[in-house]
Amino acid sequence: MGTNDISILAIESSCDETSASIIVNGKVLNNIVATQSVHEKYGGVVPELASRAHQENLIPVIHEAISTSGISKEQLTAVAFTRGPGLMGSLLVGVSFAKAFARALDIPLIDVNHMQAHVLAHFIEDPKPSFPFICLTVSGGHTQLVLVRDYLDMEVIGETQDDAVGEAFDKTAKLLGLPYPGGPLVDQYAKEGNPKAFAFPVTRMPGLNYSFSGIKTAVLYFLRDQLQENPNFIGENLPDLCASIQYTLIEMLLIKLKDAVKQYGVREIAIAGGVSANSGLRATLTELARRKGWNLYIPKFEYCTDNAAMIAMAAHYKYLKGEFVGMDVTPLAKMKF
Ligand code: KG4
Ligand code: ZN
Repeated sequence: MGTNDISILAIESSCDETSASIIVNGKVLNNIVATQSVHEKYGGVVPELASRAHQENLIPVIHEAISTSGISKEQLTAVAFTRGPGLMGSLLVGVSFAKAFARALDIPLIDVNHMQAHVLAHFIEDPKPSFPFICLTVSGGHTQLVLVRDYLDMEVIGETQDDAVGEAFDKTAKLLGLPYPGGPLVDQYAKEGNPKAFAFPVTRMPGLNYSFSGIKTAVLYFLRDQLQENPNFIGENLPDLCASIQYTLIEMLLIKLKDAVKQYGVREIAIAGGVSANSGLRATLTELARRKGWNLYIPKFEYCTDNAAMIAMAAHYKYLKGEFVGMDVTPLAKMKF
């Protein structure tokens, strides 16, 4: 380690994953993640339990990130943290630790926007998209189309006006009696089902925006009617139901992505966020990209779900631009780019 090296500890604590990562000169050395299982029995993330679990997990996770990196904490040149968007109590745990650590080591603080970091996860490993590209960020909390002009120059060109697509997966899964989070289970059952078995409405919002709350209601009423006729309807049709719901959600995602590509004339396409693990979305998008001649980028699953490596990547670019924050920085539950 020379005096010009940039080594950053990054912390992610916006929702229900506690994560820490060390990045040296733009190369991510590790990505330690503690997943909170406490929420499963409640069918969703319970904010108060999430912040308590962050308090328990944060120091062990940071300790592991530093001790497996091969550098000492005295060699760190900055501390980065997720400032928002996210759950206020969860964010506070990460921000407070980062401030104390930066003060103790007398090194600068870097605040990172979680959604910008999801996009920058594409720069952790090769192949990397070239600018400008369009990133479809799909998770349990967000659904956004982002035009990325440069590492820190991004614009949200479309986003959901209500539920995120991951929420639509999880809420419809719940109606089918599946445990939380239902997205991965819908994906599994869908593989055995017919996507055209049942037709659910495709919601079309103006411009490049999305709405995913309608499908939840459509599935609710559809199941209510079917169950009146046949109480075993769900059990007898689970794969077809999952395949049809998934098909509709993918359709909605891709209609706007195609519109965005047309509007901006960009052929570099990336996806990010937990829902990009969905095998139906991956297959449909891969085929679409092949037909349209787009270059498609899908990061490793570890970097799609919430993780500190993506925060570290964003922090590295902010460090290069000298974008630091003072000790008076506060977390933001809602945060724009
Ligand atoms: O990015 P993420 O790990 O956390 C945030 O929400 O920030 O995304 C979690 C979301 C959940 O809604 C989960 O059900 C969904 O991603 N998900 C999936 C799959 N794997 C995770 N949805 C559909 N198919 C999957 N294979
Ligand atoms: Zn996220």
